[in-house]
Amino acid sequence: MRNRALMAAGLLTATLAACGSSEPERVVEQIVVREPGEPAASAVVEPAALEEPSDKVDLAALGEEAFQACTGCHNADPGGPSMAGPNLYGVVGRKAGAAADYPYSEALASSDIVWDYASLDRFLANPAGYVEGTSMVAGAVRNGEQRAAIVAYLASTSE
Ligand code: HEC
Repeated sequence: MRNRALMAAGLLTATLAACGSSEPERVVEQIVVREPGEPAASAVVEPAALEEPSDKVDLAALGEEAFQACTGCHNADPGGPSMAGPNLYGVVGRKAGAAADYPYSEALASSDIVWDYASLDRFLANPAGYVEGTSMVAGAVRNGEQRAAIVAYLASTSE
């Protein structure tokens, strides 16, 4: 590892010298030698990262935060009104398309889905990919941990 880094440093010095740089030494000093297994400095940035769920973290509480991405169209309050999307109170265990005051798409209303963790996870990952023709055209959640937290939160509303 160290040898390879030094070789790279040597190459860089040569390259810089070839370019006529006047301070190759200073540039070489800035090369960071990583230990094996250490992540690169330019590590991928997680999208709107939630904290890693752990024993100390309440998944449903994290999900309640993540649910803010849904509140433009949904609420999950007991007896709350349906908005652009149906009220989601107690949706876990409920048949899809069953909120009485909401005009569902034919696609969702005629599906045989009963919402559970697995089907909600699938729907939230890609609504139209799961229920072709659904009118939920926004609000997909790419991050699996975030989906799990949201579903845990929705499940907690019906307990
Ligand atoms: C742009 C508005 C919009 C956003 C944002 C949105 N939804 Fe929806 N959602 C809808 C609509 C519209 C429907 C009705 C779909 C249909 O009838 O096909 C729906 C349906 C649903 C259903 C099915 C409910 C039932 O009674 O069968 C669930 C579950 C759901 N959404 C969860 C979520 C979650 C969780 C989020 C946030 C991550 C979210 N939605 C974000 C508009 C939205």
